[in-house]
Amino acid sequence: MPAKKPFYITTPIYYVNDIPHIGHAYTTLACDVLARFKRLDGFDVMFLTGTDEHGQKVEKSAAAKGKAPIEFCNEVSERFRELAKFMKFSNDDFIRTTEERHKVSCQALWKKIEANGNIYLDKYSGWYSVRDEAFYAESELQTASNGDKLAPTGAPVEWVEEESYFFKLSAWEEKLLNWYETLPETVLPKSRKNEVKSFVEGGLRDLSVSRTSFSWGVPVPGNEKHIMYVWIDALTNYLTGAGYPNTDSEKFQKFWPADVHMVGKDILRFHAVYWPAFLMAADIEPPRRVFAHGWWTNEGQKISKSLGNVIDPFEIVDEFGLDQVRYFLMREVPFGNDGDFSRTAMINRINSDLANDLGNLAQRSLSMIFKNCDGKIPDQGQLKEEDEKILQAADDLLPAIREFMDMQQINKVLETIWKVVSDCNVYFAGQEPWALKNTDTVRMGTVLYVTAEVVRQIGILIRFIMPDSAEMLLDQINIDGDKRGYDQLGVLGRLKTGTKLDKPEGVFPRYVEAENK
Ligand code: MSP
Repeated sequence: MPAKKPFYITTPIYYVNDIPHIGHAYTTLACDVLARFKRLDGFDVMFLTGTDEHGQKVEKSAAAKGKAPIEFCNEVSERFRELAKFMKFSNDDFIRTTEERHKVSCQALWKKIEANGNIYLDKYSGWYSVRDEAFYAESELQTASNGDKLAPTGAPVEWVEEESYFFKLSAWEEKLLNWYETLPETVLPKSRKNEVKSFVEGGLRDLSVSRTSFSWGVPVPGNEKHIMYVWIDALTNYLTGAGYPNTDSEKFQKFWPADVHMVGKDILRFHAVYWPAFLMAADIEPPRRVFAHGWWTNEGQKISKSLGNVIDPFEIVDEFGLDQVRYFLMREVPFGNDGDFSRTAMINRINSDLANDLGNLAQRSLSMIFKNCDGKIPDQGQLKEEDEKILQAADDLLPAIREFMDMQQINKVLETIWKVVSDCNVYFAGQEPWALKNTDTVRMGTVLYVTAEVVRQIGILIRFIMPDSAEMLLDQINIDGDKRGYDQLGVLGRLKTGTKLDKPEGVFPRYVEAENK
């Protein structure tokens, strides 16, 4: 058997200054969905997530809680691991930047960049925002109504003057501009790539990459009063996860460069400008792609702690169901755009796409087989044109959704699958198998076979998005565990006549508002 192709996907690592909310869950979910898809499609996947635990912001949050930084990090980081378990994220590793393996990796990368002549010591004087952990030029700042200077994100800034190491970012403009044009697309969506490109074309200034005014971080090798800038530390997690600095290791050879760094649009510049420049400066290949997704608002409002409208992923999953939330978040918004979280939209998706469309299709066809065909999948019999047509539509799904997945167009994947669900409902209703019960049981068998076959294929195809519901559905049709992949054995195969069914149970319940129950 040929070796499986590797696929390495990463989430941003989350700051531990705050507990996880819907935004964090969203990014990791998107990666989980991609990772599961690729595994089902025969890839050897490594999916990495974790927590970003150093820097001034975390140090301050720990102090505000009266805790030692590491004690505080342990607690909040644990909450992110709980979320991953709770949402059935299939990450292969969870990295914490306070781990020894990561310190070793950061220091090795630093030394390599420095040895290549890309780091020099100077003095930084300028604006810094602790909330954003970012440096800003005077020209980028806004003025608040009370006269205070603010970052473009609205975060407060402070004037910093200290000795600092600098990274020669200005030397990498041309190499970066070339990298953006490497195919297949290194930065997506395209509109975001254009933003990043014009930022680079506008000219890059060297970047301050160390601080001396606090101590919670990785010391600069050879000058330990300097702490590495938290972003160089954080970005390096992607290398650490692949086994860096052991570049000769099987793991590193296999998984680097990363296939996709998934990030929110807020942190694209760090990933699509600084990160590839750091890597190239250390003679390491930059990632194959950075994808920036959009932000969620809550019922039309920006999500913020001060507005008190933060959405807790644990709560919404408890209320609506895990697979339902996973489906909604990935289906509702063209992936890459901003989206609005609303209860009405969530309930619509659950009741219409899941309960009515897919749920009914499966339940009606499987129940009819259970009752009228001795609980066994009937003979396929003689296929008519309409039968062939719907089977062909199902068979065409995998190549179509592969292409969308390769561009991270997750909502398009789901739309494409649901188009076949809806066509199959039209087919089933049009064929009226219930009316054939007394007139033509052979034809009834064919219609039920064809519908069950489409349900089987959809059941396999949706495993990446709704793992539990898909398994329940496939269990009811008694599909073997090794016949649930995206291959000849699995989705590309055919349902076996005579396969015994379990009593069909509705897999996608309707959502009924509590007061109407
Ligand atoms: N620690 C840095 C990332 C370092 S990666 C080397 C960081 N952490 S964060 O905790 O602030 O998480 C940021 C990520 O959370 C965003 O990039 C985005 O992926 C996600 N989101 C946070 N709020 C969000 C929304 N309201 N909507 C969608 N995603 C959002 O930045």
